[in-house]
Amino acid sequence: MVVVIAGPSAGSLDVARGIADHLEAELVESYSKIFPDGETYVRVEAEPGDRAIVVQTMSRPQDTSFVQALLLADALLGLGFQEITLVAPYTAYARQDKRFLRGEPVSIAVVLRSLGLAGYKSFYTVEIHKEESLAAFPGKAASISPFLYMAREVGLDNSYIYLAPDVGALRRVESLARSLGARYDYLVKRRDRITGEITIETKHLDVKGEKVVIVDDIISTGGTVSRAAKLLLEQGASQVEVLVAHAVLAGNAVEKLRSAGVKRVYAGNTLPPVRDDLVSYIDLSPLIAEKLRSEIVGVQS
Ligand code: R5P
Repeated sequence: MVVVIAGPSAGSLDVARGIADHLEAELVESYSKIFPDGETYVRVEAEPGDRAIVVQTMSRPQDTSFVQALLLADALLGLGFQEITLVAPYTAYARQDKRFLRGEPVSIAVVLRSLGLAGYKSFYTVEIHKEESLAAFPGKAASISPFLYMAREVGLDNSYIYLAPDVGALRRVESLARSLGARYDYLVKRRDRITGEITIETKHLDVKGEKVVIVDDIISTGGTVSRAAKLLLEQGASQVEVLVAHAVLAGNAVEKLRSAGVKRVYAGNTLPPVRDDLVSYIDLSPLIAEKLRSEIVGVQS
């Protein structure tokens, strides 16, 4: 028997409910508070079963969400669950995936190792920044790509050009565009050797008169996507939309995107929604549930 546990972090309950509905599993909510001294407390009351699937996205405050996930694992082990899976739709710290400067940690490796030590046997997330980071988790770990599902849900087809904001993000765009039979490209920064002037442009395709979709894993401050949108519109793109897994939208990111001319942002519901007409959220729980159904023993098909 499988029980879906909704973690206490903001944004987790909706996804947990969607997953439980799709798997026809029981949904149990958890409780959390912060003690007066700042420490985190969690409690979950569930009848012990074979497997618990904890849905706990690492939304703000990320450190608390992470600690809640650790504590929930021990709470469930204490209740007698044998196998515990963590579904973290958004995994915080994923971009600190190497030591950029001497003396820095590989934060994502610390996060994933700790979740394994806490008792999770398997780990699922959505579009982690670098797939290779998952190797740090001491069990089965998978990153679910949401882009094709999202594109189909909102009707993005092969009449659009799909663009990666840099060459590092090309694999995301390539796999989506190939599935849609669409054109794709990435943006490159060039420096004029004589004037030193920096220009950003598409590597191969001319975007003049074209509808463009920028595809990225995360919008945080909005700087990357705004810069890209602005220059694509300057180069004659007829409109720019954005397909993103995680809409962190820190600070004035939404305003930045709007003033750069972005027509719409389609985001996964991996984080709590920002109420603004510019951003449309797509429920990823059916996609996550299907992945769990196909890979986890005890989840009926
Ligand atoms: C970079 O490698 C990532 O894929 C995103 O493009 C970046 O982290 C987005 O951050 P921001 O919105 O702050 O530019």
